[in-house]
Amino acid sequence: MSSSDLAILAIESSCDETAAAVLRPPGTILSSLIASQAEEHARFGGVVPEVASRNHLMAVDPLVRRALAAAGVTPCDLGAVAATSGPGLAPALLVGASYAKGFALALGIPYLALNHLEGHLLSPFLGTEEIPPHIALLVSGGHTQLTLVRGAGDYTVLGRTLDDAAGEAFDKAAKLLGLPNPGGIEIDHLAASGDPKAHKFPQAFTEHGNLDFSFSGLKTSVRYFVEKNPDLLKSEQGMADLCASIRAAIVGVLLLKTERAVEDSGLNRVALSGGVAANRALREGMTALCTAKGWELHLPSPGLATDNAAMMAFAAAHHLASDKTSSLSREISPQWQVGNESKT
Ligand code: KG4
Ligand code: ZN
Repeated sequence: MSSSDLAILAIESSCDETAAAVLRPPGTILSSLIASQAEEHARFGGVVPEVASRNHLMAVDPLVRRALAAAGVTPCDLGAVAATSGPGLAPALLVGASYAKGFALALGIPYLALNHLEGHLLSPFLGTEEIPPHIALLVSGGHTQLTLVRGAGDYTVLGRTLDDAAGEAFDKAAKLLGLPNPGGIEIDHLAASGDPKAHKFPQAFTEHGNLDFSFSGLKTSVRYFVEKNPDLLKSEQGMADLCASIRAAIVGVLLLKTERAVEDSGLNRVALSGGVAANRALREGMTALCTAKGWELHLPSPGLATDNAAMMAFAAAHHLASDKTSSLSREISPQWQVGNESKT
């Protein structure tokens, strides 16, 4: 067995999930485990970096041991160890990256510093060897961007959010409606029995030629609306209509801009990734759009849309296949964006 066939261990700790996965190249996931800290952060109303860091520290070693056992491999079977190096919360990233470096150093195998966004971008293609040219809509709690993906490692960001991410917009709107975290899922659920045309919420930058996003206006508009119409929150149908209308405003602008980006690119392939890719209306809307246009659509399987280490292990396999390993002196990059790959 050559070293490129050996299993890869990947660790993800960019926010509030500690995750570990083992992959057999090019794309067979042997194990993928997640230790969520969501409940611990819920009482603070958001992710507290120091709390995340302490929890990652406690979770990472047992989680890695369990991931290796579940995969049926020992550390000596590993060919490389990868970790998310950015973007994310510095104290959280440091834990996973330091652990992975120590592991790689002890075993004398390569270390790979990976971009979390690249993990999301590649997630719809997990298991395939080639990443075909396409337009990617990445929508998560921390990021919202349209990217031209020419192939693995070759990315140009065409537009991104200038303020809140789409998932953040869902979560903030949900909070204003008194719904529990993570609010995106709650809104999606309640919207099922609501009328998406009941209320009109603003959509920003809908003019041609602009592929950036902005969701802060929507949040403000929901706040004023709720202050003026408090009774709607007390009625089941009122809540359903509000949720459906908020979801329609967010999803509508995501679909509009994806359509424009694909048309401008001359490509006929779309991929959707990130936690918001689990949204029913977005999945259905994107499927309908792609069917109508004759475009190929790639969606991540449900467990791969939200943060996980399997997508990072898959990104690592692509890096390893082109001998792109990282120095053990490589620092974390909390602000790292895709498209400026020089930092690897
Ligand atoms: O990718 P992810 O797990 O973490 C980040 O990297 O941010 O995304 C989490 C986000 C949260 O904002 C959550 O509310 C949103 O994804 N989300 C959803 C749905 N499921 C998760 N938003 C709308 N509808 C959903 N079904
Ligand atoms: Zn993410």
